[in-house]
Amino acid sequence: MSQETYYLTTPLYYVNAPPHLGHAYTTVLADCLARYQRMRRGRGHVFFLTGTDEHGQKIRQAATEAGKSPQQFADDAVPGFQALWNTLNVSYDDFIRTTEPRHTRGVQAALSQLLNAGDVYKGAYEGWYCTPCETFWPNLTVASDTKPSCPDCRRPVEHLREENYFFRLEKYRAWLIDYIHDPRKAIGPVYPGEWIDQLGFIRPTTRRNEVLEFLKQPLQDLCISRPAARLSWGIPMPSPPFEPGYVTYVWFDALLNYITAIGYPDTGHERWARWPADVHLIGKDILRPHAVYWPIMLHALGLPPPRTIAVHGWWLAGGEKMSKSRGNVVDPNAVIAEYGVDAYRYFLMREVPFGQDGTFSEAAMDKRYTSDLANDLGNLVYRTLTMLEKYFQGVIPDYRYDPATAPAHVKQFIGRLEGYFGREGSQRESALDTYDFHTTLSGLWHIVTLGNQLIDAYQPWVLAKRRQQDVAAEAELQAILGVLADALRALAVRLWPFLPTTSEQMWTQLGCPGTLSEVGWDQAWQPGATSGHRIRKDPPLFPRVNKNNTR
Ligand code: MSP
Repeated sequence: MSQETYYLTTPLYYVNAPPHLGHAYTTVLADCLARYQRMRRGRGHVFFLTGTDEHGQKIRQAATEAGKSPQQFADDAVPGFQALWNTLNVSYDDFIRTTEPRHTRGVQAALSQLLNAGDVYKGAYEGWYCTPCETFWPNLTVASDTKPSCPDCRRPVEHLREENYFFRLEKYRAWLIDYIHDPRKAIGPVYPGEWIDQLGFIRPTTRRNEVLEFLKQPLQDLCISRPAARLSWGIPMPSPPFEPGYVTYVWFDALLNYITAIGYPDTGHERWARWPADVHLIGKDILRPHAVYWPIMLHALGLPPPRTIAVHGWWLAGGEKMSKSRGNVVDPNAVIAEYGVDAYRYFLMREVPFGQDGTFSEAAMDKRYTSDLANDLGNLVYRTLTMLEKYFQGVIPDYRYDPATAPAHVKQFIGRLEGYFGREGSQRESALDTYDFHTTLSGLWHIVTLGNQLIDAYQPWVLAKRRQQDVAAEAELQAILGVLADALRALAVRLWPFLPTTSEQMWTQLGCPGTLSEVGWDQAWQPGATSGHRIRKDPPLFPRVNKNNTR
C-alpha cells in the first residue's frame, strides 16, 4: 500500500445547534477510517480533518435568538463540538473553522480566480429561498392556495429578487459526467488509478446513479453571493475584483475548507501534497454540493477533484431524519453516560450497513450492549483471563504449537484465525477499504464466537482437574489458553479503529508492551506473541447496565 498521506474529511458541522447522533455518526466513521489507515500506512501518513461551518443566515438567526453576535455565538458553540469529539476519542489532526483567517484568505483567492477566468458572472435572481438549507429553489412550483415549502426540509421558503454573482455549473456538466464514469479518462493520469476500479468517485453505487440521473438535466448556475445588506454574516467577496457589498454563499465558502485547511492558495507548500483528498465522508443530504458543485469548483480552479465521496444514510427517530428542527434528536452525551464511549461507537458502526438508514432506539442499543459486548466479547476476555490467573498464576503459557501434536480442535481454531487475520493482512484490501464497517465488525465477532465455543466445548476446568496425572490434559489446557490469549491479542489489534479504549484495555490486560497506536494492521495474528506475558486482569470490560444511568 502506498505511503503517501491518506487525507480524509468530515463535513463541517453547522454550529447553530449542539451536535447530535447524526453528526457523531459521520465523525466516528471518519475516526475509524483514520485509525485504520494509520495502522496500515504508519502514523504520520494520515491527515484527518474536521471542523465547523459558521457563516450564513442560519447561524446569524441562532445568534440573534441567543442575543449574541454571530462570531461570539460560534466561539461559544465550537468547544461543545470539540468536547464531544474528545469524549468519543476522535483523533482528528486538524479542526478548521470557517471564520479563521486561513480559510477567508483561501475563499477570497478562489473567488477572484474564478471571476477573472469568466466562470463567475453577475446576474439577477428571482425565486424561492430556503433559509435553513441555505438553498435557492428557482423552479419551485407552488399552487396558488398553498404556502410554498422547501422540497428538502419542508419548511417555508421565502420569495427573493436580487442581483448576485453566479458560478457557471452547466459549462462543466459534460466534464463531470465523464469524470463520474471514468476519472482516468476525464482528468488524465493524475491518479494512480487503483481506487477507481475499487471504489469509483461516488460510493455507494445508488448515490452515484442518483447524481448521474440529476446530471441528465441542464444545471442551473449556482448563486454564490448574498448582498451584505440582506445578510452580512459571511466572507466578504473581495472588492476589487467584485463590486463592494457582497458576501459569499455559505456552501461555496464551506466546501473550500477541504483545500484551505491544507494551505490553499499556497499550492507550493509541502502540506499541499495531501491534495487530492482520498475521501470526503458525508451524509446523503449533502450529496449534491459535494458531488456536483465541489468537483466543478475544483475543476474550474484547475485542481483535481477528491478521489471518493463516501455517502452514508440517515439516523431516523420516529421514522424521520433525526434533526434539531424536527425535535427528535438523541443527545450523544446521554447515551454515552449510560453505555460508555466504545459501546456507542460500536452501535453506530455495527447496527446499519454503510449507506443505509438506521433507527436509533434504546432497546436496540441495549441489545447490542448486552449481547455483543457484555456476553460475547466481554465474557471471552474475562473468562480467558480468569482461567489464566487460576491455572497458570497469571502467566500466559507457551503452548509451542506443533501441527503434528496439537489437539485437533486447537488446530482447527488456529486454522480459522490464520484464515481470517492472515488473509486480510496479506491482501491489500480489507472490508474497511470499501467502508464496510459493519461487515468488518461481524467478521471479528465471528472470531469472538469461535473463541467462546472453544471454551464451552473443551471445558478447560475439566482439563485442569486432570492435569496433575495426565500430561496430555496439561498440554491441551496450555494450548487452549495460549491460543485464546493470542486470539484476544489479534482481536485487540483489529478492533482498535472501532473501539480504541477497549482494545487498549485488552492489550494491557494481556501484558502486551507499548500502545496499539504503534502496532500495524498486519501484526494482528502472531502465534506465540503473548507467551510468557504476565496478565493484568481487570473487572469485566462491559459491566451490566444499571437503568439508573450508571454502568
Ligand atoms: N455545514 C454543512 C456541511 C458543509 S461541508 C463543507 C452541513 N452541516 S450539518 O451539521 O447539517 O450536517 C453535517 C453532517 O451530519 C452531514 O454529513 C449530515 O449528513 C450529518 N447528519 C446530520 N443529521 C443526520 C442524521 N439524522 N443522520 C445521519 N447523519 C446526519 O450539512
